[in-house]
Amino acid sequence: MTLETLKIVAYIWLAVAVIVHIVMFFITAPFGRHTSGKWGPMINNKLGWLIMEFPSFAIMLYFLLRGKHSFDSYVWILFCCWIFHYINRTFIYPLRIRSTPKKMPLFIALSAVFFNLMNAGLNGYYLGELAPASDYTISWLCSPRFITGAVLFVGGLLINWKADAILIQLRKPGETGYKIPKGFLFEYVSSPNLFGEVIEWSGFALMAWNLPAFTFLVWTFANLVPRAKNHHDWYVKTFPDYPKKRKVIFPYIF
Ligand SMILES: NC(=O)c1ccc[n+]([C@@H]2O[C@H](COP(=O)([O-])OP(=O)(O)OC[C@H]3O[C@@H](n4cnc5c(N)ncnc54)[C@H](OP(=O)(O)O)[C@@H]3O)[C@@H](O)[C@H]2O)c1
Repeated sequence: MTLETLKIVAYIWLAVAVIVHIVMFFITAPFGRHTSGKWGPMINNKLGWLIMEFPSFAIMLYFLLRGKHSFDSYVWILFCCWIFHYINRTFIYPLRIRSTPKKMPLFIALSAVFFNLMNAGLNGYYLGELAPASDYTISWLCSPRFITGAVLFVGGLLINWKADAILIQLRKPGETGYKIPKGFLFEYVSSPNLFGEVIEWSGFALMAWNLPAFTFLVWTFANLVPRAKNHHDWYVKTFPDYPKKRKVIFPYIF
């Protein structure tokens, strides 16, 4: 694939993200607390997470190891950031969640596989095969943009992990219900885990500074902002004493 073709695919994929973003405010993605049996065959929740996220991990690992230019410059650092995130999401997170009896529609897992094939495919192919080595030199590593991006990436990742850990620990082993989360950024927003993920991929896009990374940031935003709104509305409906001052995802803003 040439750079021109990749750009056309990325622009079309960006347009799809905008449409999905709008649709997701009206149709709640049926997994986790919003799961529903109306979407066809169901699979185990933990298995679903593994199936959904594995392609993203595997594709980036493939392009890191087999890409023509993955080690011509410091571009391998971007691969390592991505793979590091997806080691947690694919293998560690599903083992930690306490939702064993829960199921998710196979349709959701397959949609997420497609999402991950596209995003990891675009990013991996660009970084491993097309990105000019001159873009990812030692001066790139020392640039304010890379350093700011790296701080946001690590900060977002830590927020995401900590918030996920608090949520997971709300349930004692064997429990399946929901409680109002307290402390940390939960005092400000309903979904600090999703907030952290948006910050993390903003940092990645700043570091990478290319179209596929920007496309993935737009997709992350497009997916997670409506999901956070669905979570927030669910909390308000479910718990009459839910704190009124809590925003949806961005502290003080939304
Ligand atoms: N990059 C992307 O586009 C993307 C898309 C989706 C998700 N993600 C990431 O995947 C992770 C999970 O997302 P999510 O929306 O499924 O997260 P979530 O609804 O906040 O759930 C996270 C975990 O905590 C449990 N939990 C949540 N709220 C709880 C409460 N009030 N009481 C007790 N347990 C609670 C959930 O159990 P249940 O499963 O039983 O509800 C689940 O195991 C996040 O880190 C998110 O950033 C990324």
